[in-house]
Amino acid sequence: MGVQRRNPGIVLLVGLPLLLVAAVVALGGQPRGHTPVPGNNRDQKGYTRPTDPSLYVGSETCKTCHADMPSKDFFQHFEDSPHFVTTLDTKKGPAWQGCEGCHGPGKAHVDGGGDKTKIFTFKGASAQEISARCLDCHAGGVQHMNAINSVHLKNDVSCISCHSPHHAKESEFLLVKPQPELCFTCHLQQKAQFDMPFHHRVNEGLVQCSDCHNVHGTVGPKQVRTSSTQDAICFKCHTDKQGPFVFEHQPVKTDGCQSCHLTHGGPNPHMLKLSNVNLLCLQCHTTSSFSGAPGAPSFHNQASFFQSCVLCHNAIHGSNFDATFFK
Ligand code: HEC
Ligand code: HEC
Ligand code: HEC
Ligand code: HEC
Ligand code: HEC
Ligand code: HEC
Ligand code: HEC
Ligand code: HEC
Ligand code: HEC
Ligand code: HEC
Repeated sequence: MGVQRRNPGIVLLVGLPLLLVAAVVALGGQPRGHTPVPGNNRDQKGYTRPTDPSLYVGSETCKTCHADMPSKDFFQHFEDSPHFVTTLDTKKGPAWQGCEGCHGPGKAHVDGGGDKTKIFTFKGASAQEISARCLDCHAGGVQHMNAINSVHLKNDVSCISCHSPHHAKESEFLLVKPQPELCFTCHLQQKAQFDMPFHHRVNEGLVQCSDCHNVHGTVGPKQVRTSSTQDAICFKCHTDKQGPFVFEHQPVKTDGCQSCHLTHGGPNPHMLKLSNVNLLCLQCHTTSSFSGAPGAPSFHNQASFFQSCVLCHNAIHGSNFDATFFK
């Protein structure tokens, strides 16, 4: 993909219009029917804002027609939204301000009496096109600095699948729906996990998906955040498990919490991966295991109370007092 665009021979053969279509297709978007609009730049690198100030009219001009169009108080709603502040910031020029900060230059649209083919509309735009416009202003923050790795973006889930500048249902973060419903519209498997008897209380509002995930992209896999010390996110809340301990239980540090726990929810108490603690421990603590873990001593008769390992080895996440985690 993209090779065609760089081949001058093909450029000469097919000409510019086809090339534009090829570029859109290469970006994974749908080619759209309407004529090119100033500022409708479909380059993957981003949206290049036309700098000529005479192409812009300013939000007050938009207001003359859009005060109540397409819906009542449309403009008022914008004035009450966080993006209104862009109209006040004149430093970078009109390309970065108000309505035209997102929709691009509006003069042609206005001169055409509201010709809708002469303004960028987000309808049918590809996820990459949309995100490029938004990230022009938002790429700077820590939340968005890994946008390039966004699994959502790579799967054509764009900013406006979750946010709506004009029609947000949640005033905070302009979300189209509150969490976790927002996420569950697409992630049904995870919904089932949080419905299990033992779960992080996400449905109850105690913990949010975004406490553990950065849906805008992360360096690590599965869009999982890290703690402020670049450690497992789990330590952000479960600080008592972090240590350092005089006697570390190796898997807590090396394999991570997920070697024993499910992270969303499951059928077993404490969200353990297996219903019987002994089976969980004996995955590693058998003489035949390759985990480097010592086998449980032979006096550990599995027919008896030695089954409930954590009855005795109860400081299972690490201990400052006892090498076998008795306390
Ligand atoms: C932060 C970027 C942004 C700004 C600023 C913005 N828009 Fe939009 N606009 C959008 C997006 C995204 C959509 C697609 C619908 C949605 O997600 O809310 C849209 C949709 C629209 C629509 C189509 C109808 C609709 O309700 O969906 C109109 C008309 C419109 N915008 C006009 C304006 C006007 C006028 C202004 C200034 C008062 C403005 N926009 C400011 C991003 C923006
Ligand atoms: C002279 C009146 C007028 C002005 C001024 C005006 N618009 Fe519009 N705009 C319209 C009309 C009329 C439509 C609806 C066109 C239709 O649905 O056929 C429209 C539609 C739109 C749409 C939606 C296009 C679509 O495909 O649904 C956007 C986005 C938009 N305007 C943005 C702006 C912005 C941004 C400004 C200011 C730069 C602006 N308009 C100024 C009259 C105007
Ligand atoms: C899968 C849903 C989803 C997608 C896609 C998404 N966001 Fe978000 N966004 C959220 C949620 C949820 C929050 C609030 C929780 C948080 O901060 O993580 C948020 C927060 C934000 C915030 C405010 C917090 C901050 O510090 O930045 C901005 C700005 C933002 N998103 C912009 C964007 C932009 C720009 C895109 C597209 C490149 C985008 N989002 C894509 C769900 C999403
Ligand atoms: C011209 C610059 C600019 C563009 C383009 C832009 N934004 Fe923003 N956005 C801002 C500013 C400024 C704020 C207010 C920041 C603040 O309050 O700290 C903001 C705030 C937000 C917030 C946070 C709202 C909150 O409650 O904290 C979200 C979400 C957001 N924008 C999403 C988007 C999306 C989605 C797009 C693309 C459709 C977009 N923005 C395009 C400048 C921009
Ligand atoms: C519009 C649909 C949609 C919404 C809404 C949505 N997602 Fe996604 N999400 C996807 C798609 C598509 C993928 C990529 C395919 C996959 O892994 O399922 C994805 C991937 C992910 C991944 C990475 C999975 C991996 O294998 O790397 C995480 C984590 C995630 N989403 C969390 C969230 C959270 C948290 C929310 C709510 C704030 C959310 N998503 C909202 C569609 C969505
Ligand atoms: C307590 C932290 C935490 C919370 C809260 C959380 N997740 Fe996750 N999630 C993780 C971790 C860690 C992973 C990595 C895989 C694993 O360990 O299960 C993950 C994996 C995922 C995946 C990829 C699944 C796969 O099998 O590849 C998706 C999608 C996802 N989470 C969505 C969500 C959604 C949606 C929510 C909210 C409803 C949510 N998560 C809440 C920690 C969390
Ligand atoms: C945002 C804070 C937060 C983060 C991050 C977090 N947790 Fe939790 N966790 C909680 C809270 C709060 C509870 C208690 C829930 C309750 O009482 O219902 C809990 C409960 C648990 C439990 C069950 C405890 C019990 O007694 O049943 C386990 C296991 C657990 N978390 C593991 C993890 C793992 C593994 C991670 C990292 C993937 C993680 N947590 C990340 C807040 C968090
Ligand atoms: C070697 C397996 C193992 C690993 C790795 C592990 N846990 Fe546990 N965890 C357990 C067992 C077993 C229990 C149940 C203890 C009991 O019943 O007394 C437990 C209980 C818990 C509880 C509830 C009781 C308590 O002590 O607060 C939380 C919370 C918890 N674990 C969080 C974590 C976190 C966070 C991590 C990663 C830092 C982690 N666990 C790693 C085995 C493990
Ligand atoms: C993912 C593999 C794994 C799981 C599951 C696991 N362990 Fe371990 N365990 C280890 C490793 C590796 C060591 C470190 C061995 C060493 O330091 O030589 C260890 C060390 C120990 C020690 C200290 C041994 C010594 O002599 O220093 C005890 C006791 C122990 N584990 C008990 C348990 C119990 C009880 C469970 C179940 C709740 C459990 N382990 C689950 C891998 C595991
Ligand atoms: C009734 C208490 C009790 C129960 C229950 C128990 N253990 Fe132990 N465990 C001990 C004692 C006592 C030792 C020896 C401690 C020492 O040598 O200082 C020990 C030692 C160990 C060691 C260290 C072996 C070594 O070579 O260093 C491992 C591993 C271990 N147990 C795993 C388990 C596992 C796995 C279970 C559950 C299947 C379990 N224990 C259940 C009391 C118990």
